[in-house]
Amino acid sequence: MSIDPLEYYSQADFDLMLSESRKHKTPFLIFNLDILRQKYNELHCHFPYVRIHYAVKANPAVEILKVLDELDSNFDIASVNELDRLLSIGVDPSRISFGNTIKKAEDIHYAYEKGIRLFASDSDHDLFNIAREAPGSKVFFRILTDGGDSADWPLSRKFGCHPDLATDLILLALDLKLIPCGISFHVGSQQREIGYWNSALAKVRYIFDYLETLGLKMTLINMGGGFPASYISRTSPMETYSEEITRYLKEDFSERPPEIIIEPGRSLVGDAGILVTEVVLIAEKSHHAMDKWLYVDTGKFNGLTETWGEAIKYPLYTEAPGEDSSDYIIAGPTCDSQDVMYESFRNPLPSGIKEGDRIYWFSTGAYTASYASVEFNGFKPIPVYFVGQRAKEK
Ligand SMILES: Cc1ncc(COP(=O)(O)O)c(C=O)c1O
Repeated sequence: MSIDPLEYYSQADFDLMLSESRKHKTPFLIFNLDILRQKYNELHCHFPYVRIHYAVKANPAVEILKVLDELDSNFDIASVNELDRLLSIGVDPSRISFGNTIKKAEDIHYAYEKGIRLFASDSDHDLFNIAREAPGSKVFFRILTDGGDSADWPLSRKFGCHPDLATDLILLALDLKLIPCGISFHVGSQQREIGYWNSALAKVRYIFDYLETLGLKMTLINMGGGFPASYISRTSPMETYSEEITRYLKEDFSERPPEIIIEPGRSLVGDAGILVTEVVLIAEKSHHAMDKWLYVDTGKFNGLTETWGEAIKYPLYTEAPGEDSSDYIIAGPTCDSQDVMYESFRNPLPSGIKEGDRIYWFSTGAYTASYASVEFNGFKPIPVYFVGQRAKEK
């Protein structure tokens, strides 16, 4: 089998996850809280000057939020349900930002009532709502960035606005008695080209310079997520991300703004998960077919959504015997023809693989378990089992 688990996990972590996985019926996600802890500490070490706001959407499990709370992480939320979950475990609202630029007035109101005072925005209508429902709050403005060509999961277009509009919104925010504090951007999730942080920071510099000519000093830069997890298309190590991004910041900002935020999701939780599936069926479509269709017991609608467009290429591991073969098209179990994970991209699988064998999808801790339909075709969302220190304490 060409995927070596030790390229992705330490022997101890892999053994722990594998032995837990033997206790359960597939499909499910095993999440290792020790890896999460290690990822957080590494990130903190590489970016000692930033405030980390974990992007809860990446994996909102309470067990994960509790570990991050203990580590003094801050949090970024997309909805009031994420807010409620954080409040239910005792996170202080001063450690939470409402980073979704798309939100209802009633949700802004609710968040404000619960103590949220830091919001993202990229449009005047949203800003009017914030001014009305969350008076006097701090607001940062999300700008459009480049990076869609080298991010595995691009986030441009839908979010952010042109820098010229951002400066106008900042002036509008002042009129509305809000506190415009800075600029945010997201260069795209699983961004493999670090240089895009450079071009985004140059835009921030341009905006800050212009505002300074008007006597306005911004205090915050939010550099978003985009930091990588370990998939098939490998990326530079986190150390290189931090060295390069820190250099860009130094070059553009001789005096670093007091608040620098990052909002990592994937890079904190991605590598901590292994999604475990079982082969349901292997089928050939004709007597002379070159390809084999291999169906597993979860798919695009139950945790593997990010295989859409074959965007995220998860490393697949199995203990089945045989030579590596690229004959397999890998698909999910539903009666939906879109439920095909990999057809162009061929993840080699052993020729001896058969029904009932398990396939382990590495680095599936982010955007999987919560990214599942409720019961499409009757399949339930995948359960998550935790291993690691906190799991043992329970
Ligand atoms: C506003 C915001 N911040 C942070 C993130 C997390 O990004 P990543 O998972 O690439 O770290 C996202 C992802 O969608 C986002 O929308």
